[in-house]
Amino acid sequence: MSARMLPAGSDPIRPGPTAPVTIHVDGEPVTGAAGQTIAGIVLANGRLAWRRTSSDGRPRGLFCGIGVCFDCIVTVNGDRDVRACQRRACDGDVVSSQHDELPEVHR
Ligand code: FES
Repeated sequence: MSARMLPAGSDPIRPGPTAPVTIHVDGEPVTGAAGQTIAGIVLANGRLAWRRTSSDGRPRGLFCGIGVCFDCIVTVNGDRDVRACQRRACDGDVVSSQHDELPEVHR
């Protein structure tokens, strides 16, 4: 568990009891709490980047966190280009990172 996911007893917000949710990210099981987004669960488990840019392969993860920038896109259960910051995680979701090469330009 990373510093980003406090044990409920240490959280100053004092959340109520939550149900655990397990998703698989690039084949690895990660656990969060019901109601968290996919990005929230991935970050809480210590992973800061899950996508690479098409132009130069730089790492990307959460940037705006509000669904505007599309830096956080992943494939969820086979659906491409899902914004991880906007999709609430469901138990058993299969999430994979995306990296697409730029198309070749024919002149
Ligand atoms: S982090 Fe910007 S759309 Fe998800």
